[in-house]
Order: sequence, then structure tokens, then C-alpha cells
Amino acid sequence: MTMPWRLARRAERLNPSTIREILKLTERGGIISLAGGMPAADTFPVQAMREATERVLRDHGHAALQYAASEGYAPLREWVAAELGAAGLACDADQVLITTGSQQGLDLVGKVLIDPGSAVAVEAPTYLGALQAFAPYEPEFAALDGDDDGPLPAAFGAARGARFVYLLPNYQNPSGHCVSASRRAALADAAVDAGLPVVEDNPYGELWYDTPPPSPLAAHGSLAAAGGAIYLGSFSKVLAPGLRLGYIVAPRALYPKLLQAKQAADLHTPGFNQRIVHEVVKGGFLRTHVPTIRARYKAQRDAMRTALERHLPAGCRYEVPKGGMFFWIELPRALDAVALLPRAVAAGVAYVPGAPFFTTPGHAHTLRLSFVTVPPPQIEAGVAVLARLLHEALEERA
Ligand SMILES: Cc1ncc(COP(=O)(O)O)c(C=O)c1O
Repeated sequence: MTMPWRLARRAERLNPSTIREILKLTERGGIISLAGGMPAADTFPVQAMREATERVLRDHGHAALQYAASEGYAPLREWVAAELGAAGLACDADQVLITTGSQQGLDLVGKVLIDPGSAVAVEAPTYLGALQAFAPYEPEFAALDGDDDGPLPAAFGAARGARFVYLLPNYQNPSGHCVSASRRAALADAAVDAGLPVVEDNPYGELWYDTPPPSPLAAHGSLAAAGGAIYLGSFSKVLAPGLRLGYIVAPRALYPKLLQAKQAADLHTPGFNQRIVHEVVKGGFLRTHVPTIRARYKAQRDAMRTALERHLPAGCRYEVPKGGMFFWIELPRALDAVALLPRAVAAGVAYVPGAPFFTTPGHAHTLRLSFVTVPPPQIEAGVAVLARLLHEALEERA
């Protein structure tokens, strides 16, 4: 007799993705991938990591390899609190919970705050990985109305009663948009008026290419006075994603529950990685390192902008992102980016269709292009191939 394994209801919400299956094909060589949000690997500071690893093993080897506190390595928590304070977001180290990537932070937030059927307000589009993290806790997603500057403050009133609103004000994944300072202030006030708790996710804030972004939503006086927001950060884009290191800054009232959820999930984020990263960052390394990443990605953004201007058919809309990793393209409505993906991969270029970033049907004419993974000549070649395909598809429909 075979065992009668019975899946939990939440497991049924974990679905294979046809898009992911298609994108797996891009791992075989010869395809220019503008799909993944993979940082350029040669920005990873291998030498600094090697030296820091040696120092950690030499000076604190036994402690670094031992079990550690679920809250995270205290000096790293203090470093995070000091950095955020300097950026205008006042918090104490005991509000910082180190997580295994900010992706785990999203999971813990979902676990602690979402009941089956409870509403969670999200932008349209929003980060697909957050939808995936929250979905097993069985929320009802409420898509916020927005305009070219992000969600509308008035939409928060309609979302009243939701457990939280999930926002990405800095160079959003996938839209690339950076919400203006005035809209942030209006959103913070509207959240307080509507009694709508805010979860702010900021993995891309350091990747600005012209001027730094406005201060975090969580730093606005009205929100701070109302007890503060949950704020998520990450070392993935400023050091390396393979470290799996992120953090949650939580209002004091919520911190113990998030900590208990963290403890239950994985006891703690590897203390070894935390000590190495602290060793790397404590002397101000990021102040010289991050500008090198910015310079490189800015050149790649500009290469993609030039390629898009040169090749895309008329009727495509996009904003030139001021930071982050992505161009978000709205194709002429006759085109379907999901249906075109296998053809694009066969032709040698990959992108991510936009539809999965929405909680509502439609949006098949949208797609996301990453400019960080491949260098300018490949960006130009990849966009040229994609644009040729779009021209062909438009002619077929004419
Ligand atoms: C908006 C957003 N949040 C969170 C994450 C997760 O990042 P990590 O778990 O590597 O910190 C990503 C990754 O790309 C992201 O785009």
C-alpha cells in the first residue's frame, strides 16, 4: 500500500510556475537573460570576503561556528540601526531582527500577521516573491489603485481593515519606479488616517543612479508617531545574495512575535555569515564599494535605455528607472508577453512577463527587463532580438 500523504491546504497554494519552467531553459548557454534579478557576479567583493573570513576564523572561530542568538549578531544589529538612523529612520538595535534574506522577512511577516481570508493590500504590480511568501497564509489580496507615482493615498481608505499594506517605494520590483517625497508623505498620512499598518520593503534603495531616493516612508513623523512601520532591508544587492542576509526592523509591540516565528523557522541566520559581513562592513567598506556598483549599473541602465529607444516598436511605454535593476515595459495591448516568451527564448533572449506581478487578471502586455546581469553589448543584442520579435508579432496581428 502506498502511504496516503495528504497535502495541507496551504501547500495547494504553492504552484509550479510555467514561466519559471521556461526560464530554466535560459540556464543552458547561448541565451541572453534579461530575466532574472541576478546582480552582476563580478561586483561581489570576493577579496574583502576572503580576508574577513580569515579574520573571523582566526579571532572568533569557535563562537562563529556555534549556535547563536535568534535576534542576530549584536554588533551587526547595532550597525544596521546606526546606518538606518543616519538615513533618517531612527530605530534601536533591539528592534532589528536579522533574517535569512529579506525573503525570509516577508515569510515571517506573513506568518505573524495573516489569517486565512484576511486582506493584504498590495501595489499593482508588486514583487512576485512577496505574493509567493504571503500566499500560503491564505490572504485575500487587495490591489491598490495607483498612478505614475505609485499607489494613491485615497486607495488606503478603501483598504481599511487590511492586516497591512506592502509597499516598495524605492525602485520597485518590477516597475522600477521611485515614489516621490510628496507622495510618500501623503501615503504615510493616509496610512495613519486609515489605520492601515505599513510593511516597507527596501532592497534597492542604495542602487540610485542620479540622486539618492527620498527618506523611507517608515521615517515619516505621522507613521513614527503611530508606532512605526515594519521595514525590511537586505545585503543581497550591496554585497552578495549568496550570503542570504537581510533584516526586519519592527515596532516594539510586534518584535517578540516575529522573533518567535524566526526561532521556529530556522533558529537563527548563520552566525558565521553575520560575523563575516559585520567584519566587512564595520569600517565603512560599503561607502567605497556601493558607488562602484552604482557606476556599473548606471552604465548598464543607460545602455538599455539606448537600446530600447533604438529598437522597440512604436506604442511601447516605459519609464527610465532612476535606480534599481529593472525596466518595466508596457507593450501595445495586442501583444501577449506570456505567449511570446517561448519564442523569445528560442530566439536567444529571456525576459519576465509582467502578468504574475499582479493579483488581478489581465496585464498580459507587460514585461520586466533586468539591466544588471549582462554587460552593455549583450544588453544591446538582447533588446535587438526582443524588439525584432515584437515587430514580427505586431505584423502578424496587423
Ligand atoms: C522587492 C524584493 N524584496 C525582497 C527580495 C528578497 O531579497 P533577499 O532575500 O535576497 O534579501 C527581493 C529579491 O529580489 C526583492 O526584489
